Amino acid sequence: MRCSGIVAIVTGGAMGIGLAIVRALLAEGAKVVIADSAGAAEAAEAEGGARKGVVGVSCDVSSRRDTEAMATAALEAFGRIDVLVNNAGIYSTLEMTPFEDLDIDEWRRVLEVNVIGQAMATRAVVPAMRRQGGGSIVNLSSGTPFKGVPFMLHYVASKGAVNAMTRALAKELGAADIRVNGVAPGFTLSDGVRANPHQMEKLQEISRQARVIQRDQHPEDIVGAVIFFASQDSAFVTGQTLVVDGGAYFH
Ligand SMILES: NC(=O)c1ccc[n+]([C@@H]2O[C@H](COP(=O)([O-])OP(=O)(O)OC[C@H]3O[C@@H](n4cnc5c(N)ncnc54)[C@H](O)[C@@H]3O)[C@@H](O)[C@H]2O)c1
Repeated sequence: MRCSGIVAIVTGGAMGIGLAIVRALLAEGAKVVIADSAGAAEAAEAEGGARKGVVGVSCDVSSRRDTEAMATAALEAFGRIDVLVNNAGIYSTLEMTPFEDLDIDEWRRVLEVNVIGQAMATRAVVPAMRRQGGGSIVNLSSGTPFKGVPFMLHYVASKGAVNAMTRALAKELGAADIRVNGVAPGFTLSDGVRANPHQMEKLQEISRQARVIQRDQHPEDIVGAVIFFASQDSAFVTGQTLVVDGGAYFH
């Protein structure tokens, strides 16, 4: 029970990697707020609802108003916020596209959700963490900016920005004992990815072969790293991004 007494918010927690993180946090004793633009209340109910210490909040992370309402809802439900997992992101709906053909509106939406969304959600929870004397923020990045993966330039740029924000925010928030770390998964068979035949066809086999541990990556492969950063096991670790991808990239 490494997260006993902890209150955590998981953005994008209604499915995929986010839902696996929600389940791991609950199993480790945390109370959890699922903040998602779709299906948050239903997902929380399916995990047992308030009776089991999990509530759902409808929230688009790219909206400042929504992220502030998310923090307020967490404080109303559980009285504190110890952990924010910035997991919501646009990835699984994207198709691999040469950069000359990328739609400018898609560029803007990817940056708005993946970069500004993480910053907005962080900004919303930091006042409570400061009042409490500390906290932990875990940013979902990706292996793609490390490897320079082609044909998704907007996405790779957004996750490169996440890595940079993790470092810069760790410096801004360290004095308040708020730690900021990142987890960078490889290609993961999340709910969203499984529903995208284009990605499955283009990336599943090539990703498996690029790994030292040559098998598919599942959402459950990522949760150990998130629990480490969420819990006091990593009390003296900040500004780091841990690549979790079966050894495809050594960072
Ligand atoms: N699946 C992968 O291969 C992979 C690899 C590396 C990193 N990641 C990252 O992990 C995270 C989760 O990916 P996934 O594959 O589990 O995704 P997914 O598509 O399976 O689930 C994403 C969840 O986020 C929610 N969401 C999307 N936009 C939102 C918004 N604006 N506000 C709030 N919620 C929003 C969706 O409703 C959904 O519940 C993302 O940040 C993604 O970039 C995924």
